[in-house]
Amino acid sequence: MSLAKRRGFVFQSSEIYGGLGSVWDYGPLGVELKKNIKERWWRSMVHERHDIEGLDAAILMHPKVWEASGHVSGFTDPLVDCKQCKNRFRADDPRIKGTPGQPDAQCPVCGSKGTLTAPRQFNLMFKTFMGPVEDQAAVIYMRPETAQGIYVNYLNVQQSSRQKIPFGIAQVGKAFRNEITPGNFIFRTREFEQMEMQFFVKPGSETEWFEFWRTERMNWVKGLGIREEKLRWHQHGPDELAHYAKDAYDIQYEFPFGWNEFEGIHNRTDFDLSNHQKHAGKKLEYLDPKTNEKFLPYVVETSAGADRTTLVVLCDAYREEEVRGEEAAEGGEQRVVLKLKPSLAPLKAAVFPLVNKEGMPELAHRIHDDLRRHFNVFFDDGGSIGRRYRRQDEAGTPYGVTIDGQSTQDQTVTVRDRDTLKQDRVATGKLVEYLTQKLAG
Ligand code: GAP
Repeated sequence: MSLAKRRGFVFQSSEIYGGLGSVWDYGPLGVELKKNIKERWWRSMVHERHDIEGLDAAILMHPKVWEASGHVSGFTDPLVDCKQCKNRFRADDPRIKGTPGQPDAQCPVCGSKGTLTAPRQFNLMFKTFMGPVEDQAAVIYMRPETAQGIYVNYLNVQQSSRQKIPFGIAQVGKAFRNEITPGNFIFRTREFEQMEMQFFVKPGSETEWFEFWRTERMNWVKGLGIREEKLRWHQHGPDELAHYAKDAYDIQYEFPFGWNEFEGIHNRTDFDLSNHQKHAGKKLEYLDPKTNEKFLPYVVETSAGADRTTLVVLCDAYREEEVRGEEAAEGGEQRVVLKLKPSLAPLKAAVFPLVNKEGMPELAHRIHDDLRRHFNVFFDDGGSIGRRYRRQDEAGTPYGVTIDGQSTQDQTVTVRDRDTLKQDRVATGKLVEYLTQKLAG
């Protein structure tokens, strides 16, 4: 968290006012990293597949959507209040001793006995008002998942794109949940982004597609460069399944605070479409053009958190290392380095004039201007070269381009590899080609 703030990945929301609980802002490097992850997802889901279309539905939806989806009645956590200190807890908070609602229950904050209420259901959706009159009729919700925007549009997308079942719809967008126990940095927040894909299939084929998408999604996650030993599957038991799911598997990562999910693959059956059909009073059946058969598709969902995936990528890349060789003398023996996959790194290269004289800054600026037309690159002429390397190690910048005395003579530069610390001498005219090759993948 300290590195994320120091280097401009993530800041607390409204920090100068003391912060807003579990809401975070992405700084210059964080916004690039998260964007690279979302773009990679979009490319693999939408651009590289013939059977998935993209969508960007609005955050605000008709309030009946959330009645039909089961979120008004079922998207709740059981909570207890302390009548003494007015704190609120999840009923299953392990710190509570005794049974809430009974005289033996003890408040984990003020220690009072018998002051905890019996559990009550608390809805996790944020509410707001639409229009000028703040009355009940105008209450609408901030979407708690992006999926519903896909369901209500599925026939619009299918008919306009002339897709045939099986096909999918992908969407990246914000979701909001008034989480009771948020925390662990950007792991559980009240405002977050999801990357969701709903795959519409013929009833009876959902198990096969479920397995297909499990394999695809795990391969995609591995493609982010995450260490395989830090990844595992977790199948939901009957008491863990969301109200809409018949079967669900999470992809978990071993965070510094333990194994936790960051993506889920869900068999949602026809739960959502059949409920929308009922509540909206509109037929949502698909007409198979080959067989003339009409049916309500089943849905296999892949649902990833963009922020949680960003946290996985950051945690997995973070290393504290001892530096050996020449660089140890220049910039201290210890370094913190983000070993981000180069294609995900916010900055692809940093340009350093070795010293601020003898024509080196001018050449360095020219090289920087040339490179920035191709990649997101950084210019740094402040402090010793060792210090500058260390700052870029913390930013996860894979390549450091140094302009030294030789450069002004023969138009070559050194390119330092963040991970191996090895340096190649490259002709300035070949630099774009050299970096393009290195950054692929
Ligand atoms: N549409 C299905 C759905 O929303 P979910 O398991 O509730 O399923 C899917 O959420 C993903 O969204 C999670 O794996 C996680 O990455 C992300 N997510 C959910 N709640 C979150 C929160 N409060 N903060 C950050 N990410 C969250």
